[in-house]
Amino acid sequence: MTTLDPVTASALRRGWDAQQQPFLPWREEAFDVLAARAHGRVLDLAGGTGSIASRLADVTLLDFDPVLLEIARVALGVPVVRADLSGPGWVDGLPRFDSVVAGTALHHFGPDRLRALYAEIREVLAPGGLFANADRMPEPAAPATAPAVTAPAVTAPVADESASGGSAAMEAWRVWWEEALAHPALADAAADRADGDSADFYPPASWHVEALKSAGFAHVEVVWRRGDSAVVVAHRDPLI
Ligand SMILES: C[S@@+](CC[C@H](N)C(=O)[O-])C[C@H]1O[C@@H](n2cnc3c(N)ncnc32)[C@H](O)[C@@H]1O
Repeated sequence: MTTLDPVTASALRRGWDAQQQPFLPWREEAFDVLAARAHGRVLDLAGGTGSIASRLADVTLLDFDPVLLEIARVALGVPVVRADLSGPGWVDGLPRFDSVVAGTALHHFGPDRLRALYAEIREVLAPGGLFANADRMPEPAAPATAPAVTAPAVTAPVADESASGGSAAMEAWRVWWEEALAHPALADAAADRADGDSADFYPPASWHVEALKSAGFAHVEVVWRRGDSAVVVAHRDPLI
């Protein structure tokens, strides 16, 4: 049986990062913000091939896709957990973490499931812990009668600003998957995977702030924004 080697796994990770950029403009900066906020023992939720985990020292990566998990495990040597976030069972058996991070991922879940997931994330946090989420969180357009606001021009580093990243991005995503699934060393993992649905739920940051507070987080704030991309940080307990 062929096993995945670290050089191939790292090349697949680089290809993943390249095809993911359009889906979250300023992705690298957003993930740097997540990593800078995270402390202690970290859980990278829906971590894919480990784009956020690669920035962290003490990290466990959770995802439901065996192909992505195998690439992350071999390339980064991080502990991985296979679990499905679409129901509450993913929490079972997990230790407590000081930080939970997620990037370009939680839009997979609709409003009801995401509210429940936020409460579950709080459950896996140790006292003093925090959750940080980077995703597209577009603000609603200002009403036509609103006074003009002067703000610095912000130009996203991608041509297509749609939430799907545009058709070129979708094609690059498709090609990456075609190549990964055809790799002999990933045949077992590929046979074991199932495509998941995405709700493509992209509410504004204010929705996330309210939902996180309703889930029991004591202090929630938007700590970073560029265009539609934003990072929300939620503290489990009141800040001292
Ligand atoms: C766009 S990728 C982002 C991955 C990684 N955070 C990154 O930014 O590169 C979305 C991730 O969510 C994971 N995912 C989607 N639905 C999931 C579910 N129900 N349970 C666990 N992971 C899920 C996918 O497998 C994929 O790794």
